[in-house]
Amino acid sequence: MLKYAMIGGGPGAFVGAVHRRALMLNGQAKLVAGCFSRDLEKSHAIGAELGLNEDRLYATPEEMARLEAGDIDFAVVVTSNEAHYPNVKSCLEHGIHVMCDKPFTHTSAQAAELVELARSKGLTLGVTYTYAGYPMVRQMKEMIARGDIGEIRFINCEYPQGWLAEMLEATGHIQASWRADPARSGGVLSLGDVGTHVEYLVPHVTGLKLTRLAARLDTLVPGRQLDDNGTILTEYDSGARGMYWYSQAATGMVNGLTLRIFGSEGGLEWHQEDPDHLRHMPLGQPARTIVRGTPDLTPGAQAFSHTPPGHPEGWLLAFANIYTNFCNTIAHGAAPDFPTGEDGLRGVQFIETCLESSRNDTTWIQL
Ligand SMILES: NC(=O)c1ccc[n+]([C@@H]2O[C@H](COP(=O)([O-])OP(=O)(O)OC[C@H]3O[C@@H](n4cnc5c(N)ncnc54)[C@H](O)[C@@H]3O)[C@@H](O)[C@H]2O)c1
Repeated sequence: MLKYAMIGGGPGAFVGAVHRRALMLNGQAKLVAGCFSRDLEKSHAIGAELGLNEDRLYATPEEMARLEAGDIDFAVVVTSNEAHYPNVKSCLEHGIHVMCDKPFTHTSAQAAELVELARSKGLTLGVTYTYAGYPMVRQMKEMIARGDIGEIRFINCEYPQGWLAEMLEATGHIQASWRADPARSGGVLSLGDVGTHVEYLVPHVTGLKLTRLAARLDTLVPGRQLDDNGTILTEYDSGARGMYWYSQAATGMVNGLTLRIFGSEGGLEWHQEDPDHLRHMPLGQPARTIVRGTPDLTPGAQAFSHTPPGHPEGWLLAFANIYTNFCNTIAHGAAPDFPTGEDGLRGVQFIETCLESSRNDTTWIQL
């Protein structure tokens, strides 16, 4: 059993508790320490709920990294975006492996520095692009790799949410407030929050490299400072083309991540809100639905699949699958099979490139 500490995930926080539950499901690591909030009292409140020893709850992440180095195997950074860089850096400097949530850092220079720091110290660095942990995402990846849909021609990926279709940040809503604040979010709102998931998912599944893009970032809700919607045209190293749409102002949408990939021999379509089903449309044949948990899944999809068919799996187990591979790397030196710091760096470069394109009237920019 590995031992880990958490930075962020205090009272009222959204994703920290999800990481803790995923790591419980995964069963390879136990939470032993934390700096769950900038307010020590709040850290104590969560620590008590989780049954942690009081002397392993810290006032600052730096103090935690310094005093826990050697006693923990890894740290999980689930703070608001502005605190990712200093806290990942502090953990790496103290020789601690890190899993950080996305978007990785505010700038690509910061991300590159962290990647280099981890590399020079031989440490494992991951970024939780959660959707890579879904069995049917792995199924798509392995079907494409074995040529089931032929040569990819076009990719359409969309990620609409609707929870920011009103000025929630003006109401003091915790998660909306820092996401909509340029100084804390990193200069983008929805592009960092949901657009980066799209950026990671497409090359992960297709094996293609994004080479050029033209982006238009919109602010649909009056009074908002940052983007809450965006459309991006894409080109890849193979010559394939694509179109991304992300939004958090898509009124009524919940978490509509959808990936469609069209090749010379067939197409694939997956909806995150119906994660156990994958539509395969072979050229000239009737479309079929591939169901998670059935025996003809690809090996990677089988390995990510935990419940029988018809017994839905979802987000928590996708997080757990990412942690399984992360823990296997730390514990047994397994080859990294999870989103890494390099992937986090590419995500931040993507944000910077989209911003530049959008500011220049949606001009095409080479990556
Ligand atoms: N992978 C995913 O699917 C996914 C989903 C949601 C959020 N996220 C990411 O997770 C991160 C957290 O998002 P959230 O919605 O949970 O935010 P949140 O505001 O709900 O929680 C952030 C927590 O971090 C704590 N914190 C902030 N600065 C700190 C510091 N310096 N030291 C210690 N604690 C500190 C806050 O007190 C709070 O408890 C963000 O980067 C977000 O983009 C990822």
